[in-house]
Amino acid sequence: MAKTRSSFVCQQCGCQHPKWVGRCKDCGAWESVVEETIAPSTKAAGSNRTSLAIGASRNAAPVKLSEVTPESHARISTDLEELDRVLGGGLVPGSVILLGGDPGIGKSTIGLQILSSFARAGKKTLYVTGEESPEQVKLRGDRLGADENVTLLPETCVEEILVHADRVAPEILLIDSIQTVHSRELTSAPGSVGQVRECAATLVTRAKSSSVPTILVGHVTKEGTIAGPRVLEHVVDTVLYFEGDADGGLRLLRAVKNRFGPTNEVGVFEMGENGLIDVNNPSALLLAERPKGAAGSVVLPAIEGTRPLLVEIQALAAHSTLAMPRRTTLGLDGNRTAVLTAIADKRAGLKLYEHDLFASVAGGLKVAEPAADLAILAAIMSSARDQAIAENTVVFGEVGLAGEVRAVRHAETRLREAAKLGFERALVPQAIARQIKPPAGLGVTPIASVADLLRAVG
Ligand code: TYD
Ligand code: MG
Repeated sequence: MAKTRSSFVCQQCGCQHPKWVGRCKDCGAWESVVEETIAPSTKAAGSNRTSLAIGASRNAAPVKLSEVTPESHARISTDLEELDRVLGGGLVPGSVILLGGDPGIGKSTIGLQILSSFARAGKKTLYVTGEESPEQVKLRGDRLGADENVTLLPETCVEEILVHADRVAPEILLIDSIQTVHSRELTSAPGSVGQVRECAATLVTRAKSSSVPTILVGHVTKEGTIAGPRVLEHVVDTVLYFEGDADGGLRLLRAVKNRFGPTNEVGVFEMGENGLIDVNNPSALLLAERPKGAAGSVVLPAIEGTRPLLVEIQALAAHSTLAMPRRTTLGLDGNRTAVLTAIADKRAGLKLYEHDLFASVAGGLKVAEPAADLAILAAIMSSARDQAIAENTVVFGEVGLAGEVRAVRHAETRLREAAKLGFERALVPQAIARQIKPPAGLGVTPIASVADLLRAVG
């Protein structure tokens, strides 16, 4: 009988340690290392399996680059335009997609919608549900108007899943979720790194050998990584994360890894009464509830992936009685905002040390690009001086510590989107204003420094 061995695996980042340690040496997480028992024979097989890529075979011979004829991958449409775009034109046969996100964000919903579109096209599907009963999935299906032929399998054992998958021979396989799946050959608990890695490897091998696109649903932990966790990002072809405010309607689907398409591409959906709907004009939706003439509200033409998105940045500077005034951000980088606050203090004399300061992105979005600096600064100034910025204005640019305003990428794309939505004025870095020809109807005001910004919004 094969002997089992133990290893100490970090549940946060998946790295192994020779002995138990209180803090993972790799990712620095505390008390994340647990002992897992692994049967050596299956482990070896598992690690081997992940190395098979699409088109690879065990009998392959070495070839020169010049001898390789690139074949374009056939794409299968999912009926969700935004999802197809994020994937790079649709699902690639045999590709494995990891679909991550917070609980309640809509992973199971989009999964069922995809399978339903396959079923509607007369294709066989298999929805492996490890978290919910078939009755629960049926209820969701009724709500979505899902095709009745979607086939459900309430099963969590990977060996059994493979048996059923061979029997049903689906043209798409969905596992909801990978954390609930376990292998009989491992003794560690479902959801542990060893189990998740082994089961994912088994499913990846099947996807490659059968050319069936496979979707693995994965939960994101509090820390923001897929539990089980980052190890999975290496074995799959595509990693998609759902973002957005679970309570609000808007959902962003971001490709953080994509072997068959663009990375960092973003799809925008709205969670409606009957499932997720493509949003073709997200800027209009994001700005729909913008307050009119309110101080502290600024529109930023942000870039998500390759697409422009007009988002509202809000700031509130309120008189503080605290010795250490509060600085709170939502959807913005806290450190970056602290730096901008200091710049506003020093270069514009705003006395923000007397104020509590709150800054956020409306709609539950996250904005991390440097181009947001000038808009954040403008929102802070506007609130601190209680002076609204003209409603028809957009603002973007990077701000340096000396108060200088620097150029950012994709200026023309940003301006085109602003003009499309009817904005008439843009405050942009001076270097950009000199280079570009603004779209018709949009006037550009060059901003070289914080002092210029103060004048322009004053
Ligand atoms: P779900 O797909 O179950 O999330 P996850 O699998 O990521 O945990 O989505 C659940 C949420 O979406 C839940 O709060 C209900 C809401 N919802 C709608 O608003 N409309 C719908 O048509 C469906 C199916 C769900
Ligand atoms: Mg779910």
